[in-house]
Amino acid sequence: MSKTEKPVAAKQPARPTIKAVRGTRDLLPAETPLWNRVEATARAVFARYGFGEIRTPIFEATELFARSVGEETDIVSKEMFTWEDRGRAASEKNASLTLRPENTAGVVRAYIEHNLGESGALQKLYYIGPQFRRERPQRGRYRQFWQIGAEVLGPPSSGADSPLRDAEVLEMLASFLDELGVRGWRLELNSVGSVEDRAKYNVALREALDPVKAKLCLDNQRRAETNPLRVLDSKDEADQEIINALPKIADFLSPDSRAHFDQVLAALDACGVKYHLNPRLVRGLDYYTRTTFEFTVPSGDATGLGTQNALLGGGRYDGLSEMLGGPRAPGIGFAIGEDRLILTLQAQAEADGASVAASKLDAYIAPLGLAQNPAALALAKELRAAGLTVEVGDGSFKLRKSFEIADNIARNIVLLGEDEVSTETATVKTFATGEQQKVATNELQSHLRI
Ligand code: HAM
Repeated sequence: MSKTEKPVAAKQPARPTIKAVRGTRDLLPAETPLWNRVEATARAVFARYGFGEIRTPIFEATELFARSVGEETDIVSKEMFTWEDRGRAASEKNASLTLRPENTAGVVRAYIEHNLGESGALQKLYYIGPQFRRERPQRGRYRQFWQIGAEVLGPPSSGADSPLRDAEVLEMLASFLDELGVRGWRLELNSVGSVEDRAKYNVALREALDPVKAKLCLDNQRRAETNPLRVLDSKDEADQEIINALPKIADFLSPDSRAHFDQVLAALDACGVKYHLNPRLVRGLDYYTRTTFEFTVPSGDATGLGTQNALLGGGRYDGLSEMLGGPRAPGIGFAIGEDRLILTLQAQAEADGASVAASKLDAYIAPLGLAQNPAALALAKELRAAGLTVEVGDGSFKLRKSFEIADNIARNIVLLGEDEVSTETATVKTFATGEQQKVATNELQSHLRI
């Protein structure tokens, strides 16, 4: 190779770029302010009702979900991200672990593990965090999604099984959605009875399903054998006529369960919370007893949710603690699909023509020449410490480029040339008024706040 010839870089085969895994997504800064507003509102509302935050691990022993959510549910039978632990210690070897598909099981496990019932006080716990289900991704349905949830549980002496608790949770949800400005939400409500009521209902369902089950889809045929209640959550179009004709749980409620449900309804009436009774609402998890509910929004473009229009779901789970080896601890809770709530709020804002543009910074500091970079950063530090929101450019930028960037992201541009630095001043232009003036550095803070 002669001295003047440049070495030619060996041609590398193009590497495929790595993308986020199917069903997961990045939330970028344009979107996260709305997420933060929703979470801040949830924290504020829940605090008014006496809830405290709990954070449980993102993965748990697989058995926890098998025992609580139920082996026969879609979640446990098809949708969990499960792996065998590679730990070397004998106690960890081959342990089956699972990314949590929901958070109620983890909260009840923590309640038992930390003896939270020991004090006798009612526990009101809330959580915000990601959950994982291997579902077919579509708008409003992801493999990693966020839930904002809450659980109220305690020993029977704490009043945890009172219908007042059910109504309080439902009224809190209605207030939360109203405070966020969600329009058109609808509360669907049912009672799936006690474990004993459910056992009687199961027998009746099996009898009713026996002569028709051959006409159902294969999934429903299997459910009819293993867990007939699950047939009721089926969305299979062709099976709907048969499912609608099946016996209703309402006809199998014991007088106690009926009275409990009637008291929930009476308390909701007293609070002015509107509801719609839906006898098919059994929910897709096995731990529910008595009250079950979902809040939906109308599906379609107006809500941005398509068919995934359940914003949140929940219910009572009076036997769950015992199923996990704990003491009696009746409870009720819910989980809001935060992704779906955000999609709804975004679609609503769009329909209203409301701008969801991010708010602008107080100032963009433009050093005029590389020599002014240190002074620019020092000025930014001072202004930021005083609570102003500030971005700094770079002395290599042309003036026009600095103005373009500043106009996009800030309300003011602060020009810092050699002259300004030596006289402890800055030239400030306010974009809204077009006004430009020299300001002493020690007056900059108050000038930029206006
Ligand atoms: P869930 O109905 O399975 O209940 O989920 C609650 C909410 O999470 C749903 O209404 C939906 O908004 C959201 N969600 C579920 N799966 C997805 C997904 N793949 N993508 C996006 N959002 C989703 C539970 O999880 C129970 N732990 C609720 C509960 C708490 N019951 C008593 N306490």
